[in-house]
Amino acid sequence: MVIGRGVRESVGRGGETTTAMWKLIVVTSAMFIGTVVFGAVVVQDGWDVPEEAKAVENPVPADDKIIAEGETLYQRNCRMCHGEAGKGDGPATARIKPAPPDITTAEAQDRMTDGELFYKITVGKRPMREFESKLSEEERWNVVHFLRTLRAR
Ligand code: HEC
Repeated sequence: MVIGRGVRESVGRGGETTTAMWKLIVVTSAMFIGTVVFGAVVVQDGWDVPEEAKAVENPVPADDKIIAEGETLYQRNCRMCHGEAGKGDGPATARIKPAPPDITTAEAQDRMTDGELFYKITVGKRPMREFESKLSEEERWNVVHFLRTLRAR
């Protein structure tokens, strides 16, 4: 507001228009900040994956050993919810809401890039925990390779 007054004084007779303009700027800024804050909350809720994260390619070359490691990690960390074959029918599903989706369908497999799978495993979303502090980056990429083998044929 101090700036507003300064501008009004300096422009003399045109001051009223300038004050109105400053009010508009303040109101617009407040609306903008409000949108950003509200937006951040909504984004968190919707599990929106940043475009940069989607574009990341799996840096680990797949081979039988890597996929087998991914499977071991999956069966140990994900099976209870996602089920042995990724259909979303693990033993813990009786207790959790929402139920885990079937990640074997062509729709799910085509919708998500490797980067998106990696991102979702990394950050998690309730009731799914984050795995950033539990699995190393390489382990998470191994799991991504294993998830690709679950694709329904
Ligand atoms: C406590 C149960 C639980 C565990 C453990 C768990 N998840 Fe999840 N997962 C979920 C639920 C529930 C969702 C759906 C979240 C939502 O969209 O609201 C989900 C979503 C996902 C998705 C996104 C599916 C989509 O269509 O968007 C992927 C990929 C995934 N999980 C992979 C994994 C992997 C890999 C692991 C193990 C490293 C794992 N999850 C461990 C419950 C779990």
